[in-house]
Amino acid sequence: MGIYQDQVLPRVTHVVMNRRELTPIRARVSAGLRGEVVEIGFGSGLNVPHYPSAVTRVRAVDPATVGRKLAAKRVAASPVPVEYIGLDGQALPLDSASADHVLTTWTLCTIPVIQRALSEIGRVLRPGGALHFVEHGRSTDLSVARWQDRLTPLQRRLAGGCHLNRQIDRLVAGCGLELTRIENYYAQGPKAFGYMFEGTATKA
Ligand SMILES: C[S@@+](CC[C@H](N)C(=O)[O-])C[C@H]1O[C@@H](n2cnc3c(N)ncnc32)[C@H](O)[C@@H]1O
Repeated sequence: MGIYQDQVLPRVTHVVMNRRELTPIRARVSAGLRGEVVEIGFGSGLNVPHYPSAVTRVRAVDPATVGRKLAAKRVAASPVPVEYIGLDGQALPLDSASADHVLTTWTLCTIPVIQRALSEIGRVLRPGGALHFVEHGRSTDLSVARWQDRLTPLQRRLAGGCHLNRQIDRLVAGCGLELTRIENYYAQGPKAFGYMFEGTATKA
């Protein structure tokens, strides 16, 4: 990774993702997590304060190791232990059926081959376990979606590979997880960047 990707982007991402209006979304998506949790795209640990006490351990995955420094205070203050286990959500160093829940927040947009990550999520979840997620992606409004297609090449270059136009619900369901809760809405800001998919998807 170059200096921009390795050092600058994780710090910029932390500032962008630390916006107050995202806090209630993080709280909703983290509610109901328990047991062994894998967080893919751990970033600067902004979900850590929202882990419920029923979570016994979080195993964190993220290629940007600078995030660990940015997360240090939150991790130290957390009653839930956090263990860094890997760098890539596309290849999880975990046994099959070893996790009760997986958490992703604004991460599936960035993983190069999203289907690989989703299939890894399906593999490590135990039957009845669930993916809790909030992701931005392709709007159902065609005029917004067209802008998302136009802007995605630039966004990918500037924002670490982030796609604006992934149809997250279809991709999650296509990898064998059952959508058990899904809500779509626009977050504050330009619509092309803010069409949200929030929900849970369960392994049968
Ligand atoms: C927009 S940030 C979101 C960070 C955090 N989840 C949050 O809500 O603040 C996207 C995160 O995905 C991570 N990421 C990128 N590629 C990844 C991969 N292949 N596997 C796991 N995480 C990845 C980035 O390093 C970054 O921390």
